[in-house]
Amino acid sequence: MAEWRATGQLPQGPVVRALVEEAIRRFGPVKEGEVATYIPALADADPNRFAIAVASCGGPLVEAGEVGHCFSIQSLSKPFLLALLCEAIGERQVREKLGVNSTGLPFNSVQAVERVEGGLSNPMVNAGAIAATSLVPGDTAEAKWAFIEDGFSRFAGRPLAVDEAVVASEMATNRRNVGIAHLLEEQGGLWFDATASTELYTRQCALSVSTHDLALMAATLANGGRHPQTGEPVVAPRICQLTLAVMVTAGLYETSGDWLYDIGLPGKSGVSGGIITVAPGKGGLATYSPPLDSAGNSVRGQLTAAFLSERLGLHLLASEAGG
Ligand code: DON
Repeated sequence: MAEWRATGQLPQGPVVRALVEEAIRRFGPVKEGEVATYIPALADADPNRFAIAVASCGGPLVEAGEVGHCFSIQSLSKPFLLALLCEAIGERQVREKLGVNSTGLPFNSVQAVERVEGGLSNPMVNAGAIAATSLVPGDTAEAKWAFIEDGFSRFAGRPLAVDEAVVASEMATNRRNVGIAHLLEEQGGLWFDATASTELYTRQCALSVSTHDLALMAATLANGGRHPQTGEPVVAPRICQLTLAVMVTAGLYETSGDWLYDIGLPGKSGVSGGIITVAPGKGGLATYSPPLDSAGNSVRGQLTAAFLSERLGLHLLASEAGG
C-alpha cells in the first residue's frame, strides 16, 4: 500500500447537513429540464421529486428530501457493472476489450459503434455496457443474472429487486439497443448472444434503488470498495480507482468535460434522474430529480453536485497558492 494518498475527509456532519438542506432550498424551485419519455415507464415520474444523500466513508449519512423513494437505476448501473466485471475477469481484459476512452457522443450513439474497430469505446455508454454484460461470468443468462444481482446487492448493502414494469416497458421499445448489440456482434465486440445480452443489460438498468442506496453504493466506490455500513469488501481498491477513472472520462457522456470543469469529481448520470458523484476517500453523493437536460443528465442533480463540490471543497483539481 502506498504511504501517501491524495485524499482527506468530509467536513463534520452538521456542516454537510446545513449545505444539503441549503441545496434543497436553492435548487428545489428550478423548473428546467424534461422527464425522459423514450422509455414509457419513466414518463410518469413526478418532476417535483428531489432527494439528496451524502454518505461518508466513515458510515454516517446526511439526507434530505425523498431519499427513500425508489426508481430504476438505469445508467447508474454502468460503473458498478464495470467494477464487478474488472474484479471477475481482470482489469487488463476489460481495458483491452471494452476501452476507456470517451466517445464525445450521446449514450446511445450508433455512430460511436461504427467509427471504431470492434465497435467499443468505454463501458459507460450503452454499447460498452451491453458488451460488459456479455462478458459477465456464466454460460447462461441465468448464471450471468445471478452474478449481476448479487454484485449490485453487495454494493447497496441490501438485496435489490427489479422493477418488472420498467423491464417490460423498455424491452418493448429498446430497438436502438437491440440494433447496437447486433452491430457489435457483427464487429466482434460481443461475447454472448446479442438478444440475451440486451435483455440482461435492460434488466440491470431496471434494478430499483433509492437515493439512500445510491449514496452508499457511491461511497463504496469512494471507500476502496468496502461498503461503509456493512463493512463488506465488494471490490478491491484498485478496481475502484479504475472505475472512477472511466467515470471521469465518460460518466456524463458528451458533457463529461463540462462536468469535470464544474464539479471536478467522478460522476455518473441515469435517465431516471439519478446522479452519483464520488469523492475518493471521503464519500459518495447521490441525487434524484427526474427532469433532464438534452444530454440526459438531471438538471437539479448537476446543480447540487456543483454546489456541494464547491462548498465542501471536493474538486479534485483545486489547490491554493502555496507559500
Ligand atoms: O439503455 C438505455 O437507454 C437506458 N436503459 C439507460 C440510459 C441512461 O440511463 C442514460 N443516462 N443518462
